[in-house]
Amino acid sequence: GLRALAPQDMAGLRVMVTLGPTREAWDGVRFWSNPSSGLMGAALAVCAWLRGAEVAAVCGPGVTAFLPRGVRRLDVTGAREMHEAARSLWPDMDMGMFTAAVADFSPDPPECGCGRKFKKSEAPEGFSLKFSPNPDILQSLAAVCRPGQKVLGFAAETTPDMDALLPLARAKLARKKADLLAANRVNAPDSGFGAPTNSMAVADAHGREEIWPSQSKADVAWELCSWLLRI
Ligand code: CTP
Ligand code: CA
Repeated sequence: GLRALAPQDMAGLRVMVTLGPTREAWDGVRFWSNPSSGLMGAALAVCAWLRGAEVAAVCGPGVTAFLPRGVRRLDVTGAREMHEAARSLWPDMDMGMFTAAVADFSPDPPECGCGRKFKKSEAPEGFSLKFSPNPDILQSLAAVCRPGQKVLGFAAETTPDMDALLPLARAKLARKKADLLAANRVNAPDSGFGAPTNSMAVADAHGREEIWPSQSKADVAWELCSWLLRI
């Protein structure tokens, strides 16, 4: 098939990709989420698969990207569910690619619980929501890496320019204990949520760093896979 035409430099590797947004229920009809499309994660899943890897894709809700039949797809909704799915796959993986835009917080459900629709007549004067933190999937799995397991993290940042991105990439690489970290400006039109392209600041745990001008997410995925194979 298709895959025979690509270099098989990822053959024998088991790769997990998290992609898309997560969706945190509030009441029976409302949720908290973000506009992530899952395109960057889908590009990585396709790329790793073409290069011979065995790929599992843990997809948040609304990921419409088509994945090759050979990629194992798991669909999840909330951050906790994504965490559970990723955690059960992780011990058997050689690489984790964490592209999902995981909600950092979930809204605490209203008094009536998260099952039924909350009526506006129930809202007291000065109504406000409280949020509780979600687990950090990347950080919790990077903390239990076995030797040889590689972690690729992403960073969604809003910065005035690309130069401001590199220090943020470096900081997140260290804080998350990732092997490679790719930061993108989600406030730039040619980068981030839903765009077919990405401009990135990339840093690895050996002190190497690069700034990549806007290119297709397919090309970004190819470069990131190659970088992961080198480190
Ligand atoms: N991530 C994750 N689980 C979370 C939050 C983030 O796995 N609960 C992963 C993302 O998939 C990404 C990386 O961590 O690979 C960085 O996500 P990002 O939102 O940029 O950073 P945070 O550490 O959440 O910090 P902040 O949102 O405050 O910038
Ligand atoms: Ca976050």
